[in-house]
Amino acid sequence: MVVSGPSNIRSFVDKQTGTIDREIFVSDEIYQQELERVFARSWLFVGHVSQIPNPNDFFVSRMGEESVILTRDRQGEIHVLLNTCRHRGMKVCRYDEGNTPVFSCPYHGWSYSTDGNLVSVPGELIGVPQFATAYHGELEKEQWGLIAVPKMHVYKGSVWACWDENAPEWNEYMGGMEKFLDQLFDSTDGQDGKRLVVAGVQKWIMPCNWKWGAENFIGDAYHGTPSHRSANLAGRFPGRHQVQSGSLRAGGANQNLVDRVSLSFKGGHGVLGANPSELWDVEVPHFSYEDSQVDRFFQDAHEAKQRRLRGRGPGRSNSPLTVFPNMSSGGGWSSVAVWHPAGPRHTETWRWYFVDEDVPGDIRELWRSEQITFSGPSGLVEEDDMENWNYASEASNGVIARRFPYNYAQGQGRAERDEALPGVQVSRQPTSEENARGLYWRWAEMMDAESWDQLREWDRAKD
Ligand code: FES
Ligand code: FE
Repeated sequence: MVVSGPSNIRSFVDKQTGTIDREIFVSDEIYQQELERVFARSWLFVGHVSQIPNPNDFFVSRMGEESVILTRDRQGEIHVLLNTCRHRGMKVCRYDEGNTPVFSCPYHGWSYSTDGNLVSVPGELIGVPQFATAYHGELEKEQWGLIAVPKMHVYKGSVWACWDENAPEWNEYMGGMEKFLDQLFDSTDGQDGKRLVVAGVQKWIMPCNWKWGAENFIGDAYHGTPSHRSANLAGRFPGRHQVQSGSLRAGGANQNLVDRVSLSFKGGHGVLGANPSELWDVEVPHFSYEDSQVDRFFQDAHEAKQRRLRGRGPGRSNSPLTVFPNMSSGGGWSSVAVWHPAGPRHTETWRWYFVDEDVPGDIRELWRSEQITFSGPSGLVEEDDMENWNYASEASNGVIARRFPYNYAQGQGRAERDEALPGVQVSRQPTSEENARGLYWRWAEMMDAESWDQLREWDRAKD
């Protein structure tokens, strides 16, 4: 199918029949449009404050296809800067992380300060070789600093950024979804933002479109039994009251998903969460562990959380979720995945792993090793998922295969509104594709909309 322009993208996502054209997963043309219309206009996860605890610390992250520098200046302020020199575009920082007050471009030597110590502009150009002789002192340095992202937000230590000045503020963009991020960024005992990134960030490339990961984590409970059978048998899912000898994990079947419902948010986000009526009830069983020291830690933390959070937070943990467009979490341990677009049929996945700030060292090590054997390129469970996405992508790319849409009709027309969560579609069946439909419909709206003003207009019409 030929794409004639952004205005017809919604025809690829058929709300009535619950079908989606395969082109949106393989087409070069659509991919280029989504870099502009989705990634350059959405709030994107770029990292966590624990990665840059000290003045002048930096972590090189990514927004869409582009490299950005997450940095903390000498005053402790956090900035996100586009990692491209204003002279000829050289990547000014080629390290993954580190500490420096100045980024010096390796090509011709222009230097940029992180905090704008001369004119208070983050990324300010402060050094130009041969300024007097080659430029005769006439280059207006204040005009040629690194490009700083115009919108940034920190939520419980997680750092988000958006290139579109006209985009809604982060809270409005999240539309209530942010409550479900607490399971990830609060400590196990419920303290605000008391988590930190451990063991670096895993990065790897998968031969499939970025949407496969986003869709999978937004609440695809359907694939679990056939796709993760071996992982289930091996006890790789954190479950309830099931103990596996000699291990941190509580293992066994994927029980913690059984009584969940699909919650689809207006902004395209989704979570496989608790029933809205139970949403604020933290009286849920904690995982139990055979090792008494480990079990004590989680039991105490669970009890402390109940005391601390009663009545003001979702009680469940490890809910699979996706924040539109490409940040996912849950399904296993405390980890974030970002599905960076890397061409129409490639994704560069980055995975961050979190633990409680004050977890004892030996439990922290067990927690870390459990996470990386669950998720990521070394994770038994994520390996299952990746194999599905990679083969599906390859088998969808042919000229004949592309003619036939995918089926997203599961639970079509069965979702309801719930007073406890305004604007959210709630599907109370064991598995539903409502969240995936919500994700793709929002994606199509963003592809078609000329601006956030137009999107706001469409959103108002829905209410
Ligand atoms: Fe950076 Fe020339 S490209 S100084
Ligand atoms: Fe899976």
